[in-house]
Amino acid sequence: MTKRIAIIGAGPSGLAQLRAFQSAADKGIDIPEIVCYEKQSDWGGLWNYSWRTGLDQNGEPVHGSMYRYLWSNGPKECLEFADYSFEEHFGHPIASYPPRAVVFDYIKGRVEKAGVRKFIRFNCPVRHVSFDDTSEQFTVSVHDQQADAVVQEQFDHVIVASGHFSTPNVPEFQGFSEFNGRILHAHDFRDALEFKDKDLLLIGSSYSAEDIGSQCYKYGARSITTSYRTAPMGFAWPDNWEEKPLLLKVDRDTAYFRDGTSKKIDAIILCTGYLHHFPYLDEPLRLKTGNRMWPLGLYKGAAWEENPRMFYLGMQDQWYTFNMFDAQAWWVRDVILGEIALPSREAMQADSQSWRDREETLDSDESMILFQGDYVKSLISETDYPSFDIDGVNRTFLEWEHHKHENIMTFRDHSYRSLMTGTLAPPHHTPWLDAMDDSLEAFLAQPDKSARQTGDDRATTAQLTTDDA
Ligand SMILES: Cc1cc2nc3c(=O)[nH]c(=O)nc-3n(C[C@H](O)[C@H](O)[C@H](O)COP(=O)(O)OP(=O)(O)OC[C@H]3O[C@@H](n4cnc5c(N)ncnc54)[C@H](O)[C@@H]3O)c2cc1C
Ligand SMILES: NC(=O)c1ccc[n+]([C@@H]2O[C@H](COP(=O)([O-])OP(=O)(O)OC[C@H]3O[C@@H](n4cnc5c(N)ncnc54)[C@H](OP(=O)(O)O)[C@@H]3O)[C@@H](O)[C@H]2O)c1
Repeated sequence: MTKRIAIIGAGPSGLAQLRAFQSAADKGIDIPEIVCYEKQSDWGGLWNYSWRTGLDQNGEPVHGSMYRYLWSNGPKECLEFADYSFEEHFGHPIASYPPRAVVFDYIKGRVEKAGVRKFIRFNCPVRHVSFDDTSEQFTVSVHDQQADAVVQEQFDHVIVASGHFSTPNVPEFQGFSEFNGRILHAHDFRDALEFKDKDLLLIGSSYSAEDIGSQCYKYGARSITTSYRTAPMGFAWPDNWEEKPLLLKVDRDTAYFRDGTSKKIDAIILCTGYLHHFPYLDEPLRLKTGNRMWPLGLYKGAAWEENPRMFYLGMQDQWYTFNMFDAQAWWVRDVILGEIALPSREAMQADSQSWRDREETLDSDESMILFQGDYVKSLISETDYPSFDIDGVNRTFLEWEHHKHENIMTFRDHSYRSLMTGTLAPPHHTPWLDAMDDSLEAFLAQPDKSARQTGDDRATTAQLTTDDA
């Protein structure tokens, strides 16, 4: 009998899984019956931008954490699909740091070409997943919002691809209830213009703090203060941006920090990360982890060791993204198709533990990038996912890090070479700091000479190449 597979989520990870099965089908391999449940009305996951915050039109928590002027925070050359290049999608090379609408278009392009939309049931949040040891079947309960009916179906395998940057981690600080301004989490941040001319405090020292702070600087915040718990980000910030130790308390309009200093502020954004949150999973199926490079319990970072009929995609902290999700999806596909045999539970746990032991030794961004590169290599070596130059991706990540430390406000003006096509990305027509319109049309528009003459040094620092040197 044909196996039935449920995929939960049609973001980049779930779409990678659909594409993996489709690519096997294209080679004449019989694939299982697949149902992908997606709670939003369109695909793309976080890249399917929504202005909404809080609850959606159906009363569901809004999944999206992306904001209006978000641009890729790493070079697109590091996330490029090995089976579908940016150049193939756009018909010509594009600059290295696309805004979110351009990334969304690219993600869509591959799955439109593969024709996998037919597998997805939109507006269908999964409510509950359980496993029956006797029948060896999963029961998946889904709320079909359009029919307003909760339905149950049985599956042989479940693949969790519901993401982990959606449910905010929201700490509280003394005085929050009395603070006069707005307090929000990064998950609910949408438009930097809201904070124009404001003195803004951001808690956290990772990507959200760095990038939301940069957005708000770009769109005219009066000052940015970032407050760290463990360590400052340490970039060379603009004059109106300072880093302070952790917030101690606030009163009506002032923030007080652990070093005894204080600052008048208008608004607070908690850039304090996200929770791995799977409210729909039965206890024995539920991954419990923080945001880290090697969550335990997942053999090869994907198979649920307690019940390896179930899989998780994209649960690691992410340097690698789209091509790592692909590597996982191809591997999961081949386990389900019987091409890859799983060892005993003890052997799976021992293998995971050895990755975890190495993870514990990682002490720099560089070591984490190399670690994740090795992980992607190990997956790809077991499947027919097109092999690509992972050492080259690692090198591009390291160049990116270098460019960020050179100048945090111009790193997005650099260009890198595609590891899939070998083409060097052209420079963007406008330095990121001056590019206020982040639409797909504006990004893809032909170079406008006047837009490059912005009268400062920012334009001239751009367009260095990486492996050209
Ligand atoms: C603000 C922000 C910016 C980012 N920027 C970048 C970047 O520049 N470059 C980069 O490579 N990565 C970036 N990322 C990382 C991001 O995690 C990945 O790019 C990617 O979106 C992860 O894909 P995913 O499919 O695993 O998860 P998601 O994109 O989160 O998709 C999960 C999907 O599951 C669906 N879902 C959730 N729960 C249910 C349910 N119960 N039932 C049915 N469906 C459900 C959701 O609606 C969603 O469509 C960013 C993340 C954030 C938060
Ligand atoms: N433009 C873009 O592409 C873009 C923009 C934003 C985010 N992202 C992506 O989004 C993902 C998530 O990034 P993130 O920065 O939101 O989360 P994150 O990387 O998990 O970082 C969470 C931060 O919150 C801090 N924190 C957590 N709890 C805290 C507490 N109680 N008090 C004080 N500080 C606390 C952590 O401090 P410690 O260091 O002390 O733990 C850390 O600095 C990343 O993959 C990133 O690439 C991308």
